[in-house]
Amino acid sequence: MSQLLEKIDKEKLPRHIAIIMDGNGRWAKEKGEDRLFGHFHGVESVRNIVEGCAELGIEYLTLYAFSTENWDRPEYEVVGLMELLVSTIRKEVESLNKNNIRLHVIGDMNMLPEYARKELDEALEITSKNTGLNLIMALSYSGRWELLNAVKNIAYEVQKGRLNVEEIDENTLQHFLCTSNFPDPELMIRTSGEFRISNFLLYQLAYAELYFTNVRWPDFRKENLYEAILDYQGRERRFGKTSEQLV
Ligand code: IPE
Ligand code: IPE
Ligand code: MG
Repeated sequence: MSQLLEKIDKEKLPRHIAIIMDGNGRWAKEKGEDRLFGHFHGVESVRNIVEGCAELGIEYLTLYAFSTENWDRPEYEVVGLMELLVSTIRKEVESLNKNNIRLHVIGDMNMLPEYARKELDEALEITSKNTGLNLIMALSYSGRWELLNAVKNIAYEVQKGRLNVEEIDENTLQHFLCTSNFPDPELMIRTSGEFRISNFLLYQLAYAELYFTNVRWPDFRKENLYEAILDYQGRERRFGKTSEQLV
């Protein structure tokens, strides 16, 4: 067994890990290849990390695969990413099922091309009875889009007379987010040496532990995940209190 894996305290695992899978393009360019080559290899990391999380017994894994802003990339890259998404889902859905993994998506599905939406809907349905790892793909997702959407829907409920303004609290807001069925991530990992959130889970990350690594996403493997979890386990989560209050 991996030495890092042995060091992980199984009683103190994060329930929910969120990852900004970044650095595919640079990884490819460094090899003199096209950006799409990097995305293609990123799929292998997804497979490896999903497996790693399932083995550990992590309950929720959210992967940032495509942001609202990513629609502004060159058309060939956007099309290439959509095709990769569809072919990957088609290939992986059986193995997701075999491993009792339930797929979810968060994001503006209306933005996705019809063929991609169809493939996704099918995969969601096929895996909907699974009770193991919840794999949440953030697709055409951004935190600001999500919050705006929530505000609109809350306003609509008020307008229809189904909700009183005075009743609106954190639970109400939570209920209208795409992540209403999931706990907030305790650990957020970003690969490739960028130190920013890039519009990911703006509300949900309020108290997440942030972990940044220079490793590019296509090179990220279970061992790197274990390192991140160990780092997380070494931190003191105070939630505004003092150290003394925690003991
Ligand atoms: C992350 O890798 C994947 C997506 C955003 C779809 P990038 O494509 O952002 O790779 P870099 O950051 O340009 O290296
Ligand atoms: C964030 O990465 C989105 C995903 C990983 C899907 P980007 O590469 O798009 O973020 P920025 O533009 O560098 O902030
Ligand atoms: Mg990037």
